[in-house]
Amino acid sequence: VNVHYRIEPNLTADELADVFKRSGIRRPFDDLPRLAQMIEKADLLITARDGDRPDRPLIGVARSLTDFCFACYLSDLAVDVQYQKQGIGRELVRQTREAIGDGTMLLLIAAPEAVDYYGKIGFEKMDRAWWINRKR
Ligand SMILES: CC(C)(COP(=O)(O)OP(=O)(O)OC[C@H]1O[C@@H](n2cnc3c(N)ncnc32)[C@H](O)[C@@H]1OP(=O)(O)O)[C@@H](O)C(=O)NCCC(=O)NCCS
Repeated sequence: VNVHYRIEPNLTADELADVFKRSGIRRPFDDLPRLAQMIEKADLLITARDGDRPDRPLIGVARSLTDFCFACYLSDLAVDVQYQKQGIGRELVRQTREAIGDGTMLLLIAAPEAVDYYGKIGFEKMDRAWWINRKR
């Protein structure tokens, strides 16, 4: 496939909902206002599309919150199931790292299905991470 990556701050909530659904990731895809805010308040949205035009289907996304100088939280990494295991997730993470620079740490929470994934693409496992989970 002819995958095109770009920084796209202005996705629609529908598009994001769609790629989340097609990836199998658990995200609030029925709550479009919440998805719209997730897009609007994100600091870095990198997309993968099948083809080089903006109207080509979205097949992957990496959504991060970051200051671009110290810390970055990669909140959502999702690739359409039909396009998984072709290096798209790895490339979305590579482009995220390129955008934030090497003075910025990159932090994430692995989904249960992806616990062994991040070690393969350069992440180190931490046992000092703590969180207060969202309630909904
Ligand atoms: C997890 C996910 C983002 C990976 O994207 P992808 O494009 O399929 O992954 P890549 O092709 O970049 O995979 C890179 C390597 O990791 C391996 N890999 C892929 N998914 C994996 C998984 N879930 N667990 C362990 N290894 C995995 C690949 O086989 C590949 O190995 P190789 O280098 O030896 O060939 C994608 O499968 C996905 O969207 N899953 C559903 C949603 C999800 O769980 N998201 C993460 C939670 S935030």
